[in-house]
Amino acid sequence: MKDVEIMQPASSELQQRFEAAGGKPSYVRGMFGRIAGVYDLMNRLMTGGLDARWRSFAVRQLALGADALGLDVGTGTGDLAIAAVRAAGPRTRMIGVDFTTEMLEIGRKKLERLHLADRIELKQGDGEHLNFPDNTFDGVCSAFVVRNLADLPGGLREQFRVLKPGGRMVCLEITHPPGPIFGGLFHLYFDRIIPLMGKVVGKSFESYRYLHQSLAVFPRAPQLKALMEQVGFTDVRYHYLTGGVVAVHVGTKPNG
Ligand SMILES: C[S@@+](CC[C@H](N)C(=O)[O-])C[C@H]1O[C@@H](n2cnc3c(N)ncnc32)[C@H](O)[C@@H]1O
Repeated sequence: MKDVEIMQPASSELQQRFEAAGGKPSYVRGMFGRIAGVYDLMNRLMTGGLDARWRSFAVRQLALGADALGLDVGTGTGDLAIAAVRAAGPRTRMIGVDFTTEMLEIGRKKLERLHLADRIELKQGDGEHLNFPDNTFDGVCSAFVVRNLADLPGGLREQFRVLKPGGRMVCLEITHPPGPIFGGLFHLYFDRIIPLMGKVVGKSFESYRYLHQSLAVFPRAPQLKALMEQVGFTDVRYHYLTGGVVAVHVGTKPNG
């Protein structure tokens, strides 16, 4: 399967918004900058607290050992990196990278509050051009990020590059639930209810409408698996959670 067969073009409405903002990365950065203050609260409300369980599942798949160094791409306010160090040994460290300073500022305050600032470093950076040498990290993870990348295959290639041979890559992302009944309810909730919650809580109907719109052009779970294999990951598998609202993809960078 070629990248072009897996990737769909964004809807023309979304495309126009990207162009008006100066491209998808600028649009995404601006949007997360605007909603940073309500981001954590909205996650808890939208998912009824399930997002924490999904991250716990993802970091169990990452399985970082003692003394390991992990990377959280698109770390935002740091929740996946926090779950990763809590699930691992006391000397395990994480670096979280994100291009939205407003999200990182909230994350840094959270790390101070939780006394985790010595184990998790948050850095500003672009997930599509990771500023680290090849083979740096024992594990690489992301949660709700890859759907936002302008160049998904390129972003996955970067995660592959900075991962040490034998290391795991774990990707938690919203997906297309299999099955028409649950899938229909899911799309109704994402398309109608969540933007209204975003409007009331965060005064941002548009940003939370983007959540559903960005999913429309995102590959289905089997296609994302194929894309990871194209990039070079082996032993790629995925797990649907909560009826397929989200999928956790896991791949390994082969040795040698
Ligand atoms: C939905 S939030 C997820 C935050 C966090 N991973 C979590 O589990 O809550 C997506 C994050 O990805 C970041 N992001 C999106 N594209 C990025 C890119 N190309 N480089 C760096 N960060 C990116 C956004 O700034 C935002 O903070």
